[in-house]
Amino acid sequence: MDELETQLRRRLTFAIISHPDSGKTTITEKLLLFGGAINIAGAVKGSKQSRSSVSDFMAIEKERGISISTSVMGFEYRGRKVNLLDTPGHADFSEDTYRGLSAVDSALLVIDSVKGVEERTRRLCEVCRMRHTPIATFMNKLDREGKDPMELMDETERELRIGVRPVTWPIGQGRNFKGVYNLVERKLHLFFPGEIQRPIDIVTINDLADPLLDEKVGPSLAHRLREEVALLSGVYPAFTVEEYLAGTATPVFFGSALNNFGVRELLDTLTDIAPHPTPKKGEERMVDPGEERFSGFIFKIHANMNPRHRDRVAFLRVCSGSFERNKTYFHVRSGKPFRTGNPTAFMAQDSEIISEAWPGDIVGIHDTGTFKIGDTITEGETLNFKGIPSFSPQIFRSILNADPLKEKQYHKGLNQLAEEGVVQIFSKPHHPNLRVLGVVGQLQLEVLQYRMEHEYTAKCVYKPIDFTIAHWITSEDQKALRDFLDDNSKRILVDIRGTHIFMSDSDWFFERVKGNNPKIRFYGTSEMVEDRDSAFMA
Ligand code: G4P
Repeated sequence: MDELETQLRRRLTFAIISHPDSGKTTITEKLLLFGGAINIAGAVKGSKQSRSSVSDFMAIEKERGISISTSVMGFEYRGRKVNLLDTPGHADFSEDTYRGLSAVDSALLVIDSVKGVEERTRRLCEVCRMRHTPIATFMNKLDREGKDPMELMDETERELRIGVRPVTWPIGQGRNFKGVYNLVERKLHLFFPGEIQRPIDIVTINDLADPLLDEKVGPSLAHRLREEVALLSGVYPAFTVEEYLAGTATPVFFGSALNNFGVRELLDTLTDIAPHPTPKKGEERMVDPGEERFSGFIFKIHANMNPRHRDRVAFLRVCSGSFERNKTYFHVRSGKPFRTGNPTAFMAQDSEIISEAWPGDIVGIHDTGTFKIGDTITEGETLNFKGIPSFSPQIFRSILNADPLKEKQYHKGLNQLAEEGVVQIFSKPHHPNLRVLGVVGQLQLEVLQYRMEHEYTAKCVYKPIDFTIAHWITSEDQKALRDFLDDNSKRILVDIRGTHIFMSDSDWFFERVKGNNPKIRFYGTSEMVEDRDSAFMA
């Protein structure tokens, strides 16, 4: 096996997806502890949902500006190089999370067993489903009285539209939580609150009829486990790695991250089954990670929060070949050469200049305005990776320059911040100066205003517009599309790629229009549009 093959087989690049407060930060911390990347608990800072004001957000970002490494955490575990991507915890910044998912090969879904499947989880899983990203599931907080495990499985399968395959099964819950039974390994893992698990707490029970089970967990819970396991085998097919890799079924583990229970088993399983770097889809062709020639794409741009230093960090996901320091590459969008002297790799708490990176790795590149989210870098080939979608915003405002003397700064700031993905910008066809902003959360609007003022000395004001729902539109029938655009001209916007968007103000109205226009295709994300060759450009 050559070096490239060896390196890429070692890589495991994943993100944790969850609704805020499910335990993502706690799990991340335990994973880093196991990986030897940090020594003490409490070292990983979460960005809590409760922090909801702009100043709080800016404070978080400032911290990150200094210790930007928290965005990607690399560590070694059982012979694999694990790259764990942090996805912002704040509900308002979900779009960044969605984009991060384009840079990983699998995801770990964390569900709070008390609350069950929550709103953000649903949307994140939709994104994974769109790309067939393999998902492993951890049902957290079993040390609390939560939903019935059967009900949780049912809810997950129904709401996330993915097959669920229990790998471990809980014994009791809350104060009665005694541990989990591993259905594959036929081992009982006993739970002792707050303690690190010792080898003697793991008991092999090949046959559930074994009286040892009653001895270990008590007759009543033993009886219940026997009943439930019998029921489970009738309801759920046995877990197979193939189904997991295809993204059609998720292995489910139960535990308590806070008590460090079940997390190591989870990590062990992930290192055994999680995919190494997978082929990535380019507009021109599929790119295999084992190809000798380097390729990669930018999935995130992070501003340096110090306004005196306008440089930014662009996050590059290596897709094929090896990336080398000081080598000259090709920036596809501009058609220009590009070279970096200080590519950065991220370890748990540090970042370091590296000389090479392999498929699956995330490299930080200092950027002075060259890159846009979605840009591809190659050794010369013209290639454009797909999968950096724009998501349908939920809040729209028209934006105006509030200080005519700062017209230049206003446009520069707006364009740069849109490139960074802070907001999406749309315009009206034939009225390029009329700009409409689209955001997923209200906070993004406030952050934009704050950053325009502090980084670009520009002032902007927002005006409400009547629309709340956006759909990207295409049609195979160009005439039908033109007619539709003419008939609905007041409701049409254009995104930065020139694709048309149809705006509506209620689901009811949208469904009616959709029903009346069978030749028009409506999409909730720009990615779906890109999958259609027939997208009509303005
Ligand atoms: P997040 O990153 O997904 O937002 O969640 P985070 O890990 O910050 O966890 C949210 C809250 O849930 C935290 O409590 C955390 O301690 C708690 N938690 C995580 N895992 C478990 C678990 O297995 N069992 C129980 N009972 N609680 C768990 P907090 O009070 O909000 O914060 P803190 O003061 O404990 O840091």
